Amino acid sequence: MEIIIVKDTIEGGKKAFELIKAGMDQGAKVLGLATGSTPISLYHEMIKSDVDFSDMTALNLDEYVGLAPTDPQSYRYFMEEQLFSKKPFKETFVPNGKAKDAEQECERYDQIIEKHPIDIQILGIGSNAHIGFNEPGTSFDLTTHKVELLPSTIEANKRFFDHAEDVPRLAYSMGIKSIMKSEKIILMAYGETKAEAIKKAIEGPITQEVPASILQKHENVIIIVDEAAAKLIKR
Ligand code: GLP
Repeated sequence: MEIIIVKDTIEGGKKAFELIKAGMDQGAKVLGLATGSTPISLYHEMIKSDVDFSDMTALNLDEYVGLAPTDPQSYRYFMEEQLFSKKPFKETFVPNGKAKDAEQECERYDQIIEKHPIDIQILGIGSNAHIGFNEPGTSFDLTTHKVELLPSTIEANKRFFDHAEDVPRLAYSMGIKSIMKSEKIILMAYGETKAEAIKKAIEGPITQEVPASILQKHENVIIIVDEAAAKLIKR
């Protein structure tokens, strides 16, 4: 695990973008992408650069069950707004929140991941150490699955909604098994609310109770954190 401590989210976004560009120079064709506030500075860097992504495939981690792509709270909408509409990709995939059959949707998404092995996976981290929507307690062996969100996640994500009751209770998430198959993983975390999760993920025991701790087993992980998120880790 390589840990890079940056001044702020802007510097973190620049650093992550440099790593993506280096990966693309070496032939990376598939990016695994994340939502949330954390990757926004990276997406800004991508948009304002002259790097061409039109030959790249993007695969997102997760989506709320029940939200249509046109719903401003959906992750598909977020990705269109923050990146895809401004920087064209060859193709982009996000689980379909409106799928009629959950099992079929998970299978469909797994097939997409299988067809497009992820070269570089971008991750944020929940304050409960979830990655994607793999909540504490989730098996490390799962591929795409339907998740019941924990109260702590609903609490953390309600800032994007008018009312806490509006936060969907269910989501589709790429599983940890698929995330771990990525060639390279870049996890970013900013702010004090992530300090505990970062400490446990990097220094704690590898346990399903701390989903991000599995990353200690991956051979090519880079963690980009600001001082506040790095506060509790040993230097
Ligand atoms: C959501 C997403 C995660 C993301 C997390 C952190 O729960 N499913 O992929 O990492 O939020 O969000 P933020 O970056 O806004 O702190």
